[in-house]
Amino acid sequence: MCGIFGYIGKDMPVASYVEGLSRLEYRGYDSCGIAAIKNGEFFIRKRQGKINQLKCELRDELNSQYPLAILHTRWATHGKPNQINSHPHFDCKKQISVVHNGIIENYLSLKEELIRQGHKFVSETDTEVIVHLIEKYYSGSLEDAVFAAVKKLSGSFALSVISTRTPDELIGVRKGSPLIIGLGRDGNFLASDIPAILPFTNKVIYLKDGELAILKKDEVKIFSFDKKPLGARIEKISIHPQDAEKKHYEHFMRKEIFEQPEVLRKIFSLYVTGNTIRFPQINLKNPFLKKVKNVFIAACGTAYHAGYIAKYFLEKYCDLDVEIDTSSEFRYRKINFHTGDLFITISQSGETADTLSAVREAKKKGVKVLSICNVLGSSLVKESDGLIFTYAGPEIGVASTKAYTAQIMALLLFCLHTAHIRGTLSRKSFCRMLKELGQIPRYQKEILGKEKEIKTIAKDFSRFGCFLFLGRGINFPSALEGALKLKEISYIPAEGYPAGEMKHGPIALIDEYRGVICIAPQDDLYDKMISNIQEIKARKGKILGIVNRTDTQASRLSDELIYIPGLKYQDFSPLLVAVALQLFAYHVAKNLGREIDQPRNLAKSVTVE
Ligand code: M6R
Repeated sequence: MCGIFGYIGKDMPVASYVEGLSRLEYRGYDSCGIAAIKNGEFFIRKRQGKINQLKCELRDELNSQYPLAILHTRWATHGKPNQINSHPHFDCKKQISVVHNGIIENYLSLKEELIRQGHKFVSETDTEVIVHLIEKYYSGSLEDAVFAAVKKLSGSFALSVISTRTPDELIGVRKGSPLIIGLGRDGNFLASDIPAILPFTNKVIYLKDGELAILKKDEVKIFSFDKKPLGARIEKISIHPQDAEKKHYEHFMRKEIFEQPEVLRKIFSLYVTGNTIRFPQINLKNPFLKKVKNVFIAACGTAYHAGYIAKYFLEKYCDLDVEIDTSSEFRYRKINFHTGDLFITISQSGETADTLSAVREAKKKGVKVLSICNVLGSSLVKESDGLIFTYAGPEIGVASTKAYTAQIMALLLFCLHTAHIRGTLSRKSFCRMLKELGQIPRYQKEILGKEKEIKTIAKDFSRFGCFLFLGRGINFPSALEGALKLKEISYIPAEGYPAGEMKHGPIALIDEYRGVICIAPQDDLYDKMISNIQEIKARKGKILGIVNRTDTQASRLSDELIYIPGLKYQDFSPLLVAVALQLFAYHVAKNLGREIDQPRNLAKSVTVE
């Protein structure tokens, strides 16, 4: 939610500032802006809409150089996404400027007080109170004013602050929303996430909650909110700048769909040697895994669906009791944890506010937290007891694809590892299953090779105004994920349902104008699924079957088919179904001319509750 980019150092062209910001556009794209300082004066541009529009407005200034600037791309919370509400925001005298990611929960009371004291507000945002507070406390030192202002704020915030009165410093603050520092050769950077600094440096400091950083062109100092100096922990990032680029693909989403076989191969090869699974950062001892009884899983969106698949696995193969909930529900439930319970959380970004809150609730109750996460320096990783890193690389498309199958792969390996330790799976089955899991990238490639056919089917199906995705057992979460993918990028209403539940209500929706996606691999529930498909057919629903090549029954009932390779262990089929449904959603959305990588109203990383 919202992207922050800032720099202080040797002169840098506006084009480079905009490049840094563009790499954060996945975090929000309602409006954007820049405030740069040179010769004691602000250069300001703000725009409703996407960064390209700002770039157009700046076309004559792209080569102008500035030694200091802050930029912002917004996902609106308080106030409409218009030009006035867009960041940066300014104090009354236009000498201080702030960009902000997060929510200031006490902004209304602060605003009323500041207005009484004579401050003039121009926007409807919560952010504007921050800059007026800094103005209020300013008496010659910007640093001191920021320290004082921060103490008055409640909520979550990552801030970047500059002033024409102190053009030799850039201040960053973090509480609850992510902020990193990039250490460059000619200057230093502030950013919400790694992709923004990749073209400039690979040296990074992950600011922690409750820290304030003062950046000069050749120095970075970090303090706690009560001004205690803290040591800097410089880390090297191994991500290549091109990993966060679109390359020859039209959309990040398609690029990321096609990267999946490589990502899964990498995860498998890094965690599996022969018939042994090892997770270097799991930090859960074998005796603990052997004895654990109850597992709780919490995550949001796509990550929740990956967790749902793990639930089926942990129950079936590890003999565990597993509860799953969305993080936003989980954190407000009264759960009776017991010593020895395990809490698993899944997140691509590691910054999802609801998931972080759920983790904090679980930790308060003394439960061990294992995270499945794709960002090493994220808050989630820092707050968890153990980690299984998903190695998917930067995921830029707002609709999660490769991070999802990476999460499933990591979770399935964890399940096999746990089953092995608990002795709930024979050695023979363990080895066979591991072998088949290692083949999944090859099978995914086969499905990617059918893109042309899927595109044709998607074109035909894009005329429907409503979709149902049906699956059973381990593919019920696949149905949920298929529906989520379709609705978030095509805006067509779509619901994922356990096929057996249709007759308890949703079947009323079926007629010849509904697209019904039936996920029917030949697994233990195949016969039941066939009966459900019959019920849809009898009501004239238009059926797209996701079936195995050897299938006869579901194929006969379906209007269109996408074939997925048959597996000995059909419980791995969600890794194949996902690829088929991602391509289907992508081509429906493309056919409808949607903004695939940046769907309306969404942002990649949801850092507000
Ligand atoms: O970064 P996270 O994995 O914690 O994000 C969770 C959800 O916000 C995310 O999966 C969201 O549902 C995606 N837009 C789905 O494509």
